[in-house]
Amino acid sequence: MKRSIRLLTLLVCLVSSPALSGPPSASAANPALDARITALLAQMTLDEKVGQLNFPSFTLPRGPQIEAVTAGRIGGLFNVVNPVHIGEFQAAVAASRLKIPLLFAMDAIHAFHIAFPAPIAWAATWEPQLAERAAEAVANETAQRGLNLTFAPMIDISRDPRWGRVIEGAGEDAYLGAAFARARVAGYRRGGLATAAKHFVGYGAPEGGRDYNGAQIPNAELFDRYLPPFEAAIAAGSETVMASFNTVNGVPVTANRRLLTDILRTRMGFDGLVMSDFAAIMELKNHGVAADLAQAARKALHAGIDLDMESKAYARHLAEAVRAGQVPMAEVEEAVRRVLRVKYRMGLFADSPQGVRKTPPPMPETDVRRRAREVAQESFVLLKNSGATLPITPQSGTVALIGAAALAINDHSWYGPAGLDKPRTEPLLSALLSRMGSGQRLLFSEAFADPCGQSFKDKDDALRVAREADLVVLVLAEDCLAFGEGVSRAALGFSGVQQDLLDALAEVGTPIALVVETGRPLALTETLGKVASILIAWHPGTEGRIALAEVLTGEIAPSGKLPMTFPRSVGQIPIAYNDLPTSRPATEARYTTGYIDEKPTPLYPFGHGLSYTTFAYSGLKLSAPDMRQDGQIEVEVVVRNSGARAGKEVVQLYTRQRVASRSRPVRELKGFRKIALAAGAEETVRFTLKAADLAYHDDEGQRVIEPGPFTVFVGGSSAADLKGAFRIVADN
Ligand code: NOJ
Repeated sequence: MKRSIRLLTLLVCLVSSPALSGPPSASAANPALDARITALLAQMTLDEKVGQLNFPSFTLPRGPQIEAVTAGRIGGLFNVVNPVHIGEFQAAVAASRLKIPLLFAMDAIHAFHIAFPAPIAWAATWEPQLAERAAEAVANETAQRGLNLTFAPMIDISRDPRWGRVIEGAGEDAYLGAAFARARVAGYRRGGLATAAKHFVGYGAPEGGRDYNGAQIPNAELFDRYLPPFEAAIAAGSETVMASFNTVNGVPVTANRRLLTDILRTRMGFDGLVMSDFAAIMELKNHGVAADLAQAARKALHAGIDLDMESKAYARHLAEAVRAGQVPMAEVEEAVRRVLRVKYRMGLFADSPQGVRKTPPPMPETDVRRRAREVAQESFVLLKNSGATLPITPQSGTVALIGAAALAINDHSWYGPAGLDKPRTEPLLSALLSRMGSGQRLLFSEAFADPCGQSFKDKDDALRVAREADLVVLVLAEDCLAFGEGVSRAALGFSGVQQDLLDALAEVGTPIALVVETGRPLALTETLGKVASILIAWHPGTEGRIALAEVLTGEIAPSGKLPMTFPRSVGQIPIAYNDLPTSRPATEARYTTGYIDEKPTPLYPFGHGLSYTTFAYSGLKLSAPDMRQDGQIEVEVVVRNSGARAGKEVVQLYTRQRVASRSRPVRELKGFRKIALAAGAEETVRFTLKAADLAYHDDEGQRVIEPGPFTVFVGGSSAADLKGAFRIVADN
């Protein structure tokens, strides 16, 4: 889908709006607000009520939509990014009978003007605070243009890198995902935008990793794996939730009352508004659950979709359905009430009880850039570094930088449609050149005709500079169009002729430091033996190539960790660190849960990431050998920087419940902390482990804290081997 490539192509402190800052208020009961909404509803005609549920994308020419707003037939618009146009729509609101404010929304995810690294890179920092600062900056830039809602954060858990949208999320783990969901919602809101937690729920689990495909999700897994980020987003105050396109267990989410009403509203207590995804109500026909658009409208409304994004199904059919007695007026009014409640909470009405929305003061561009650089610096993951190939030092000798990506200055942001200038962006080549020692030679060869290596410009030139150099820094990029929405992949290698060049360079024999720009885990097995080091740079954004030069030259030590497992081969997918045990744990032997033609382990596990120094773990201590079902224990460990230079480490805590009523994952992340240590320094890191954090769900979705023996593991990845034991004991 074009719009999605754009989504990624456009992938988006003070005083903030009273309605969007402070303690989250999404679920707070407010009788004064309810009374105001009731009074407003009483004045609305049926057409005006339906109008509040109509949420089209901005179209040109603007006349018909301006007229529709004046007539009260539109509740919100998206993709209006020019303030002049927003002003025209605001004037139309002022000229309308009831003057109900509009939602102005867009995908301000990791970029509006300055592009931050893609969200998967935010998760790779393992530093939610950085994500919060990033989200705040993106929202701040967006809010200055008059927008008030972002279609973010995407908090779908996914264990399948074939699915292109893993770039927008926080990877495979519910605990990490919840931490980043919380942080991103808080950040966007502080920056002046309401948020849409998306895509509720199970969009990240399409069968085969094929976008929009159905997901089969057992109840226990739904609650343990897919819902926690949504709980976190709602607790952090997300005003809205976007429903996902796909089916879950055979029923499209857009028509799924169990998910949208029974679980999201009744069980999880969400009282904000739920919007469909783009044209998803119309697509209920494609799913084969609606004969026509009118039936699709009725089904979606009944399931719990308040806002109809783009389908125009509500605008065309709801009023007529109410008049014909097919849809109760109360159902329409309930949806309108939720839309109005959110608009009040956002402070869009002049009489909003929580105060009128104010756009936060603009953040200086230098501040936004500093934040973008910081995220990039902390997000790069060093997978491998044989013989301390990196960082580049004067002893590295002559360096050959190879790959057209080193010239790339693509900023995947909205500057074009927003009528802004392209942000100044430094490419890797010049960033590296200015950071290398004056006496040191840097050779360069573009090699490819385009940044993603679809074809060669001059392969021989690349081989020539490699022969002349002592170290090759090769920059390869995932196919530029093969990430984001609608771009599932069956193969996870390098696109175009990039592998061809890598193989030829390996023959030359000069050690290769490989830099990979990607939005998803790739299967790099073939590559592994041919290169000395691998640095995953994700898609690093406007400041990202400077950060990359800083890391390559050792000014900054890499400190990112994988938020998603890197498989050895596509055949291993889905692969994640927290699988259930099996009757015959995978080994390379026959009759176990592995493949006879593949190793049982991934190429790099979740949580993995090296630095230019090393860290040693010791002294694991638990404050008690057991805890009650409402209790907690403290876990402490000593982490020492055992190398020769300063660095940062993400200390990770995992548990395993050894015996329970059902199989429990072989490991589950239950805590993490990023610490900075000078060479030789050590720190005691403490975690509080609550019995409540060890709960799981049964087949009925009931939450269980089950007594039994546990193992706790602490270390620098999900393969950590320092361990201890404790028990949860029954309360009497
Ligand atoms: C479809 C995508 O699934 C959704 O995430 C996005 O917000 C909308 N398009 C609007 O662009």
